[in-house]
Amino acid sequence: MSVRRLDANQPASFAFTAENLAWAKKTIGQYPAGKQASAIIALLWRAQEQNAGWLTKPAMEYVGRMLDMAFIRVYEVATFYTMFQLSPVGKKAHVQVCGTTPCMLRGAEDLKKVCQSKIHHDAHNLSADGNFSWEEVECLGACVNAPMVQIFKDTYEDLTPVTFEKLLDDIAAGKAVKSGPQNSRHLSAPEGGLTSLIDKSLYAKERAYKRVEAPPPAPPAAPAPVASAPAPVTKVVPVERAVAKTPAKKVSAKKPAAKKPAPAKKKK
Ligand code: FES
Repeated sequence: MSVRRLDANQPASFAFTAENLAWAKKTIGQYPAGKQASAIIALLWRAQEQNAGWLTKPAMEYVGRMLDMAFIRVYEVATFYTMFQLSPVGKKAHVQVCGTTPCMLRGAEDLKKVCQSKIHHDAHNLSADGNFSWEEVECLGACVNAPMVQIFKDTYEDLTPVTFEKLLDDIAAGKAVKSGPQNSRHLSAPEGGLTSLIDKSLYAKERAYKRVEAPPPAPPAAPAPVASAPAPVTKVVPVERAVAKTPAKKVSAKKPAAKKPAPAKKKK
């Protein structure tokens, strides 16, 4: 997903129409005192709808003043959610291509190439006629029908480059287009039809079903007796032999050294 920044070109001001202002005041009044900031998503969304599909900085600050919020808190919300557009979008379609893993594995890169060739090479840029723009976003919650795109409030799923090109061509030509899966799939049902519980007699009204109880589980088997281990065999040795086997203390065979004779005294 690209970095989300406020557009470099901003108008001087923003104000709700009389109708939207009345709606905004009523919406804020639905929240308890002190919790008016909770209306921020609703008010930003209404401001975006009033302003040809994108949120300007003056619009964010206008909403911030209405809700008594610091502007930074409003910028945080507007720049976080990809439902809010920060630059002008195509008049006929702003295409949000899901690029998260399931869609990426099922061909989102090919859908992005279609956007690059039919709309603009770079995201967040208008097509030459100003009718189309595109961007890549994270998961849009229709992964089972990957790959998919969202255009304004509708999603278009199970796309191929061919069906996606046709969808863009139909929108450009002003033809009515059908949202949801763009192949034979019914919603998120298995592609190609059901594969289980397809016996029609299952659904016949007169068919009766007898409840079959599972047999009770067998009682646990008694534990096998533990075999006693054989006692260790002790060898009995007769005392005499045991004594005889005891090694005798070795007596040193070394003879004591003989005393040297004392030297004879000289006669005077
Ligand atoms: S990954 Fe694309 S809709 Fe979820």
